Amino acid sequence: MAEIIDGRAIAESVVVKVIESTAALVSSGITPGLAVVLVGEDPASQVYVNSKGRRAKECGFHSVQHNLDADTTTQDDLLKLVAELNADPAIHGILVQLPLPDHIDADAVIQAISPDKDVDGFHYINVGRLGTGALDEAFVPCTPAGSMLMIERVRGRDLSGLSAVVIGRSNIVGKPMANLLLAANATVTIAHSRTADLPAVARGADILVAAVGRPEMVKGDWVKPGATVIDVGINRIPAPEKGEGKTRLVGDVAFEEAEKIARAITPVPGGVGPMTIAMLMAATVTSAYRAAGKTPPRF
Ligand code: GUN
Repeated sequence: MAEIIDGRAIAESVVVKVIESTAALVSSGITPGLAVVLVGEDPASQVYVNSKGRRAKECGFHSVQHNLDADTTTQDDLLKLVAELNADPAIHGILVQLPLPDHIDADAVIQAISPDKDVDGFHYINVGRLGTGALDEAFVPCTPAGSMLMIERVRGRDLSGLSAVVIGRSNIVGKPMANLLLAANATVTIAHSRTADLPAVARGADILVAAVGRPEMVKGDWVKPGATVIDVGINRIPAPEKGEGKTRLVGDVAFEEAEKIARAITPVPGGVGPMTIAMLMAATVTSAYRAAGKTPPRF
């Protein structure tokens, strides 16, 4: 049976370090500030944004939330708010919650965020910093950053000689994940829906990251014996065994099969999910340290 990588515990350890680093910075007169912008009332986004705000307060941050009306907010309104936050010295991190309503060009808004406050790591400058291995200056998207920290806890920081396969090529997870693995010296393959014989490619992986958004797609016999498996998927599926109309969360990996083969594996829920917000807090305190000309903590 595989080691179950406990995302909640690792996330707590990150938050403890954020709290300590924040306290040290506050004693020198600087409070990390995080601004979260939500347009509209998408219930899932509201849940995410509220938990980001709660965590930020726990960390001792100056936390502000802007809730804008989906019908009356124009793209110009949003760009104006981003410009104000860019100019506000009390704000070190800006996060515009996605998705945005259809009448707003999300990419234009994201590219308007100062790269030095882009704690989501979505700005082209940060994509470029990560792609060129300038990790000390980059902001890295929170989900792959959290996934990488879990891999480090199991396999160490140097992945020389190991093969890594990332299933999924999104800009938010798959591509940055591949760049992080490459920066750690893994030999990296990005596989996706057009890959020939995906199970065979996956079976070559010492480190297998699944980020496709398809419930339990990665079967036990896709997993190399002894592999480390990181399941980024969070999929809600019907669970009639729990009662009529009930649902449950599953990942992109068929967990019960895979845990028999893997050496270590993340569960869903309780794996990558809790890491994401913790890494956002880590990015915000990192940004505040950089703005102060101090060396940020290493997470
Ligand atoms: N919506 C879902 N996940 C994310 C995220 O990581 N960042 C932002 N900005 N929006 C999201």
